Formats: sequence, structure tokens, C-alpha cells
Amino acid sequence: MCGIFGICGTISKSSVNQCIEGLKKLEYRGYDSSGIALLDEGGIQVVRSTGKVEALEKKLNHLKDKKTISIAHTRWATHGGVVEINAHPHLDEEGSLALVHNGIIENFYEIKERLQSEGVRFSSQTDTEVIAHLFGKLYTNDLLTTTSSVIQQLEGAFAIACIHKNHPDTLLVTTRDKPLIIAVEPQSGQILVASDLNALYEGEFEIFYLQDNQIALIEQNKIRLFNKDLIPLNPNFEPVKIENTPHFKGEFAHFMLKEIYEQPSAIRRTLEGRYDIELNRILLNLPKSFDEVSKKVQKVIFLGCGTSYHAGCITAHFLEEFVKIEAQAEIASEFRYSEPLINPDTLVIAISQSGETADTIGAIREAKNHRAKILSITNVANSSIIRESDYYLLTQAGPEISVCSTKAFTSQLTLLYLVTLYIYQIRNQGLSSHPNWLKALRMLPAQVESVLQKKGEIQGLAKKTVNFEKVLFIGRQYMYYTALESSLKLKEISYLFTLCYPAGELKHGPLALIDEKTLTIALLGHQPTFAKTCSNIQEVQARKGPVLALYNKSQHLEQIQPEYSFLIDQEILEPFKPILYAVVLQLYAYYIALEKETDIDYPKNLAKSVTVE
Ligand code: G6P
Repeated sequence: MCGIFGICGTISKSSVNQCIEGLKKLEYRGYDSSGIALLDEGGIQVVRSTGKVEALEKKLNHLKDKKTISIAHTRWATHGGVVEINAHPHLDEEGSLALVHNGIIENFYEIKERLQSEGVRFSSQTDTEVIAHLFGKLYTNDLLTTTSSVIQQLEGAFAIACIHKNHPDTLLVTTRDKPLIIAVEPQSGQILVASDLNALYEGEFEIFYLQDNQIALIEQNKIRLFNKDLIPLNPNFEPVKIENTPHFKGEFAHFMLKEIYEQPSAIRRTLEGRYDIELNRILLNLPKSFDEVSKKVQKVIFLGCGTSYHAGCITAHFLEEFVKIEAQAEIASEFRYSEPLINPDTLVIAISQSGETADTIGAIREAKNHRAKILSITNVANSSIIRESDYYLLTQAGPEISVCSTKAFTSQLTLLYLVTLYIYQIRNQGLSSHPNWLKALRMLPAQVESVLQKKGEIQGLAKKTVNFEKVLFIGRQYMYYTALESSLKLKEISYLFTLCYPAGELKHGPLALIDEKTLTIALLGHQPTFAKTCSNIQEVQARKGPVLALYNKSQHLEQIQPEYSFLIDQEILEPFKPILYAVVLQLYAYYIALEKETDIDYPKNLAKSVTVE
């Protein structure tokens, strides 16, 4: 892991500065450590640092930046701790070559043992270092054939960028199962390599996506591409215009808070142009063939990880209840190895904010092996997941910087509601007007705004409850899935131990955890099961467990009298309630983390997008 950036052919701009800028844009892939290697006739210079790219930047002043070839990396630790020695780039024993890697080498241990028995000394605990030493061992003066021999021995996934002191004009890249782009800026002739388009600066580029087991040798103004048998290929470039929006926190202390506040506009933008109120119709502007898929579909599977999986859980419930098609949500990392019972009449809806999550990509490929149709929902145009899918729709949340996902989640839900209603509309020749779904959707942004206006009350609740050691979330039906998401939010940024259970399951185990130090947060929104959840709350109270209850206008809490409560006083349809409850608990998690003084936007050990399994 995790973000790769490289430059060949810098003429006017400083390559070091460009690498730093590129790495900063890739930090969403990991921010444990970073490093850079520069190549010229004099050899290779390497600088590495733990922590965010900023820390690396501070160490770079002494680097003489006349170089034309550089590789750089930002890491999310997989093998080996967060120490400088494990940061990329890694070198072979002679220091003749430096390389950066995204992915996991699954047979690294066997290769390492073999090389060690041959006398090779390792300096890190990473899987990546075996690639560098293997390269050193197999080196034959010819970069291309050496690379081919190296990758034949590697099992697992990799995107690699490499430089060698005997080839001062060449930047080498290769990949298997991991994205890597080559971008040519036609004006300057500068060639960049990167894990994805996010790393590029503003401008117009010709882009090539390196395919599995291809090797590219990049020299100034020249790219030579080969397949695994070393047969030369012609890369198919496509034009891409990069428009970078600078990321500012503005008046907000953290990106997370800013993004929470952006939710009304993100939802509004996601809805825009996607319905016709007069005709009571959803308009998704998908290819006509999607209508055929919608008519025939017998089963819908939602795939995702983390927050995106939770959006899938909520929508699977809605789709099955409303459209009456079998629907389920699956965690992508489980699904991909599950031998799923799917066929060409299955629609798979893959959800991913970044569009780069390795497990979700793996799960899509598994579904494609069974010839299921894939619709992806992502927030990033041109992302890897879009390229893997038959159809795609973009949420319009705008860039989400905070690792803890907020506006991406509520935008995903908004778009997934539209997709569900669309499938209904196609199968039933129209949308029912009772309830008036479109009217309810259009009210969402204003309803979220009303919730946000109660931030003072939510902060007050956080201050009162910040000292609990453990937090248990409970809910039923839609509220259970919302509770899962809220539990994830709180643990991610406050580092509190949180757990989430369907309220009815309490008696089968979690009640054993209840005591005065454990706060139970109960999401009571689901009206049909309100009384049942109240009974579960009483079971908690009977065991001296304090309760924070979130409830709706029509619900009365006299029978439970929780220690803490929060009223959501908007009238809203059941399937849409998760949005309002999630927003309240995003703010709650934020204020708890603020009290605990954690690194809210960049929580420890996490990454915004996880590009390894
Ligand atoms: C990481 C992020 C989560 C996110 C998950 C899936 O774990 O920290 O916030 O939900 O990846 O990411 P995706 O980009 O596929 O939605």
C-alpha cells in the first residue's frame, strides 16, 4: 500500500514539488509514512519519513532537484510497523535500484527465506522489499527481461514503479490486479505515473491504464509497452481533463464537520435532473438496456465495504420491501470468496465512494464471472470500479476528504433510493403516488438542514456522555443498519469500543456487557417495531445500563424515561429515516472525538480508500 506517483521528463517544474503535490492528493490511500527517490547519472537519492506527507516535505530541503526521474509513495502499513525503515521506496542490497509498490505479495515469506538463505540481508519487515532484492538478484543489465523474470515469481497483487542507476533515463512500471495510470501532458511532454487520476494536477492529459502483467519503460517523450511475453504493444491513450478543486476547510475546524454541513447540498445535487415531478417519474439517464435488466432481474445484490456496505444494507431492505425482488447486501471481502448463487438475471449494485476499494473490485469480478450485470454507484468519475461495471451512476457529493465518510453516505443513500424507485417504475409501468416518493425525496435536504440546526443540543449530549467506556448501539429494521453505520462512525474517530446489535438480539448475549459504564444508544425510528425496541431498552435499564434514545415526533418515551434523549421532529417516510438519524449520530461522533482530541480527519491506523485486500 498505497499511493504511487512518479515523474519522467520534468523540464520546468520541480519534480520534488510535483511528487509532494501528487502524494498529498493520494494520502487518502494511506498516511502512515511516505518517501521519494530521485535518479540521475550520479545514482539514486532516497528520503523517507513516517507520518503524513507534510513530514516528508520538511526533510526534502537538501535534495538537489535537477533530476528528471522520480518515484514517490505514501503508505498504509500492511507488513511491518509504521517506522521509517518500512517506508517506501525500497532498495536492493547494492542500492542500485529503488522501487515503490502498492498491493500485497502473498508469497513474500517464501521468497524472503530463499533470498536470505542465499545471503541477502533485509532491512525492513515489508513484503515490498523482497521485490527489490529479487530484482537485484535477477538483474541482467536488461530492465525489461529482469522485470519479466521478477514478476513471474510474484504471487498476489502489485503496482510497481522502479528506477535503476544503470538506466538513468528510464522509469519502469508494471502491474497486476492494481490500478496504475500513465499520463502524458502533451504540451510539455512530461510523463507521470500514478495510482489514479486524483494524483494529477489540473490540465489536459492523455491517459493510459496499464493492464495486468504489462510492463512499460518510460523515457523522456517515449513510452515502450510490452505484454508478459515481452511482445511490444501500442498503448491506447484516452484524453482526460483534470479539474482540481482546492480543498479548504473554510470556517470549519475539520473537513469532517464541513462535509457533515455539506449534506443538504450534496443530496440536492445528487437528486438534480434525476426526476420529473410533473410526470411523477425517475430519470436516471442510464442506457436503455438497463430497463431490460430491471424487468428481468430476479435478485439484487448490493456490494460494498464499510460505510458503503451499510448504504447497501439499507437499500436492500427497501428494495425487497417495496419492489418485491429478493435483495441482499454483502460485504465485498466475504462475497468474493463465497461461491455466490448468482446468474445473468442477478443485478449487482456495487457501492464505493472512492471507486478504488480492492475488495469491492474483487467482488465485482467474481460477480462478472457469473455473468451478473453490474451497476456501480461511486463518487469519483473515471474510477477503477466504473471501468469494471456495465452501468454506473455518480453521487454528486463532491470530494470527501475526511476519512470518516459522511456526505458520501447520505448521497449514496439518496441515489440508491432513486435506483430502487426506478426499478419499481420500470417493472410496474410507473411510480405509485401514495406515498408521494418524489415529494418526500425533495424534502430531504431541508430536513437535514433542520437536524443540523440542533448541533448545540447534540454537542451537549456528547459532552454529557463522553466518559462512557463502551457504547452499544441497537435498532431494528432500517434503524439497525443505521445503527451499524453510527457505531462505525463513533469507533473510527473516537477510538471508543463500540458494538452494534439488532435490539431483539440483546438477550442472546450482549446483555452480559451491560453495566453503569456502558452507554446504550437506541435508534427508535422504526415505527412498526417501536414498542418492541422500548421493551429491549427496559431490559437494558433493568441491568442499570444508561440509555441515549433517538426517537421521532409521534413516539412517546414515558414508559422508558431514558437518561438522555434526542427528538427528530420531521415527518419522514420509514426508508428515508436513516438519513436523518445518521446525520445526528455523525455530529454526535464528531463532538465525542472533539472532546477526546483525536485526529478527526485522519484517524490512526485507517485510510480513506483501502486498495489492498
Ligand atoms: C475505508 C474508509 C471507509 C469506507 C470504506 C469503503 O475503510 O475509511 O470510510 O466506507 O473504506 O470505501 P469506499 O471508497 O469503497 O466507499
